[in-house]
Amino acid sequence: MRAYNFSAGPSMLFEETLKETRDNMLSYKDSGLCVAEMSHRSKEYSEIQTEFIVTLRELMNIPDEYAVLLLQGGASQQFDAVPLNLAKKGKADYVITGHWSERAYSQALPYGDIAAVASSKDATFTYIPELPPSVFRDGTDYVHITTNNTIYGTRFTKLPDVKSPLVADASSNILSEVTDVTKFGVIYAGAQKNIGPAGLTVVIIRKDLITKDLPGCPKMLNYSTQADADSLFNTPPCMAIYMSMLNLRQLKKLGGVPAIQKFNQEKAALLYDFIDNSGFYKNNVNKRDRSLMNIPFLSPNGDLDKKFIKESAAQGLLTLAGHKTVGGMRASIYNAMPLEGIKKLIEFMKKFELENK
Ligand SMILES: Cc1ncc(COP(=O)(O)O)c(C=O)c1O
Repeated sequence: MRAYNFSAGPSMLFEETLKETRDNMLSYKDSGLCVAEMSHRSKEYSEIQTEFIVTLRELMNIPDEYAVLLLQGGASQQFDAVPLNLAKKGKADYVITGHWSERAYSQALPYGDIAAVASSKDATFTYIPELPPSVFRDGTDYVHITTNNTIYGTRFTKLPDVKSPLVADASSNILSEVTDVTKFGVIYAGAQKNIGPAGLTVVIIRKDLITKDLPGCPKMLNYSTQADADSLFNTPPCMAIYMSMLNLRQLKKLGGVPAIQKFNQEKAALLYDFIDNSGFYKNNVNKRDRSLMNIPFLSPNGDLDKKFIKESAAQGLLTLAGHKTVGGMRASIYNAMPLEGIKKLIEFMKKFELENK
C-alpha cells in the first residue's frame, strides 16, 4: 500500500515513474542492464539524458539562449557555485526569506561584497518583504532570491524589478507553476521535490553568464566545465536522471506546467481553506505570500502537535512534522501528491480536532 508522503524532500514521485522504473529494473529496453549499471556514454543513456533536457526545455519554455546543466551537490553546492561563477566584480545582493536563503547568503559572504538587502526575519519569515528597486544596490553582479521557502511556507508571487541578473533558488517550486525563464539569469534546483529523486541538481543559466576563465573557481564548480561537455564531464547520476526523465514525461502527459499549476492551486486552496476556517489549526503566513507547495500549520499547543504527528503517521500520512527550526506541522504537497492525499489529511485533521478540542 502506498502512503501519502508529505515530506519536504525527497518527496512523492508520480506512480507511473515508479512503475516504469520497476518494469525496466532488470533490463532497460532489452539491453540486459538496469540504467544504474549502464555506461553514461551508451546510446541508451544518451537518449535518456537528451529526453530529460528536451522535455524540461519544453515544459519550462526555456529559450535557446539558456543552457541546462545537470549537476550534483544539491542546491547547497550552488550556494558556492553561484558567487564563484557570477560575482566577477565581487558584489551581489541577497534577499533573506528563510533558512535556505540565509545559507545561500552566508556561503556567498567569503566571495566579495555580499549584502543582505532585505529580510523577513523580524516576523519569523512569515512574509516576503516589499522589494522596491531602491532596495537594491547599483553595480551588483546579481541579485539572489529563494522563490519558494520550503520551511516557512512562503513564495514570491511577484518578482523584484532588478537591473542585475536575477538568480533564483527554485528548489521547492520549480515546475509547480508557470515561470518566465527570461526574467532570470540563473535558476537552480535540487531535484528531490518536483523533478525526481535526489542526486541531480538542475541549473538553467543564460549562456552569456558562463565564463571559462575564472581564477579561483575550482574546475568542477565552473559552469563552463559541464556546459562544454553536455553535462558529461564526469559520470552523472544516471539513475536519478532516468527517473527524473520519467517524471517529466508524466508531467507532460498531465498537461504540463499550466495544468499542474491549476491542480496545485486547487490542492493548496483546499487545505488553506480548511485551516483558516477551523479555529483549531492555524497557518501564520501572510495570505498573499502563501506557498502552493509547503503548508506549515499549528495545533493549539506543542504537545498536541507531537500527538498529531504520531497519530497521522499511523494512518499512512507520513512526514508531517514541521522543520526543527519552526516546529508544528508542515504538509509538503508537491506535483505528485494526489488530491486524495489532501482529502485524507483533512479528514484526519477533522477527526483529530474533534478528539482533542
Ligand atoms: C529552497 C531550498 N534550497 C536549498 C535546499 C537544500 O537543498 P540540497 O539538500 O539539495 O542541497 C533546500 C532543501 O530542502 C530547499 O528547500
